[in-house]
Order: sequence, then structure tokens, then C-alpha cells
Amino acid sequence: MLKHKDLIDFTKNPFHLFNKWYDLARETEINDPNAMTLSTVLNNQPSSRVVLLKSHDENGFIFYTNSNSKKGRSISENNNIALNFHWKTQNRQIRIEGQTNIVSPEIADSYFNSRPRGSQIGAWSSNQSDELVTGNELIDNIKKFEIKYKNQEIPRPPHWNGYLVKPQLIEFWQEMPFRAHDRILYTFINNNWKINKLYP
Ligand SMILES: Cc1cc2nc3c(=O)[nH]c(=O)nc-3n(C[C@H](O)[C@H](O)[C@H](O)COP(=O)(O)O)c2cc1C
Repeated sequence: MLKHKDLIDFTKNPFHLFNKWYDLARETEINDPNAMTLSTVLNNQPSSRVVLLKSHDENGFIFYTNSNSKKGRSISENNNIALNFHWKTQNRQIRIEGQTNIVSPEIADSYFNSRPRGSQIGAWSSNQSDELVTGNELIDNIKKFEIKYKNQEIPRPPHWNGYLVKPQLIEFWQEMPFRAHDRILYTFINNNWKINKLYP
């Protein structure tokens, strides 16, 4: 019979476990260990795409995007979202469900100001998720904003925002031999994290 030893460290605080796994993934993934799938739902239709985790702490997980994009419009109607990390080198997955809201302008400004100039121009130039009718539009927009902000600091576009995901549920999944995988579910109830093991 399979001797199953839990690989997941039990801790009352899922953020401690997240940090431990994330730090290991940062050492071993070839690229983008901070890539996470973000799923939104609009009119009962789910939609997923990858975004980058830019910071996190016990308040939640922050990503940045264009609020006029498909995901931005979806979130403004329904801020229930899901995140998913899959770290292939670690044979691990983390699933997060919760609500997301736009972060303060100060937080977004501070991150925007730390970005390379080309990315700042890109944020002004891309009408993310709108139809690009002619191939030159994007290049023309880039040129236009490069001229507009020549020799000037580039302000954050008002439609370019950070989003804080406050988790209600965090599930840690660790691959084990013969599909006897470890799954630990943390659910935030009455200001406390409840911990359950799940069948794989
Ligand atoms: C590795 C990777 C990282 C990405 N990071 C971001 C990001 O941080 N923010 C963002 O808006 N789009 C990011 N994208 C692009 C999105 O996946 C998506 O194409 C774009 O945001 C438009 O999505 P939407 O039309 O659903 O709004 C990334 C794509 C990949 C593959």
C-alpha cells in the first residue's frame, strides 16, 4: 500500500505557505514565476488570461492592467475572480478565489513610475482589447505619445490601474506518486483561515 507522507507544511497562515512555494518557484522556473491565470466572469461567461503578480502581502495579490480592457470591463461588472499559479518545476498549483478592487492611485502611481519609459508609453498607446483596424495604429500611437511626453515625466494613464485580489479561498496542490496528490484548502471564514484536506 502506498505510504503517503504529506508534503505540504501545515501552517495556520496560507500566506506563509504561499511565500515558501513562490520563493522556490522563483529559483526554479525558467521564466515568469509570477505569471498567473486570471479568470473573470461576465454574463455567466468565464474568460481567462495570464497576468503578472507584481506584489503581494497579507492584504492580497496585486496585478496591473488597462481598466478599459475586456478583463477590466468584466471586473467592473463582477469583481468575483479566480487566480491560478502552475509551477511546472515544482509540480505545484495554487488556486485562489476572491474579490478584486482597484488599488489607490498612490500605489498605482508608485509602480507606474518604476516602469521603463517604453512600458509607460505602451500603457498610453494600447487600447487594450479594442480592435486594431490597421497595423500602423499602434506604432502611430507610440510615436504620438513619445512626442507628447518628450523630455517630460510620463504620468500614469487614468485607465491603467492596479487591482488587489482579496482571497476568500486558497488551495495548495502538490503532486504525489500514483495520483495521491496533497491538497490543502484554506477558506477565510469569520476572520480566520479554516484548513481542510481534500481528496485529490
Ligand atoms: C506571461 C504573460 C504575462 C502577461 N502579463 C500581463 C499583465 O500583467 N497585465 C495585462 O494587462 N496583460 C498581461 N498579459 C496579456 C494578457 O494575457 C491579455 O492578453 C491581455 O491583458 C488582454 O486580456 P483581456 O482582453 O482579457 O483584457 C500577459 C500575457 C502573458 C502571456
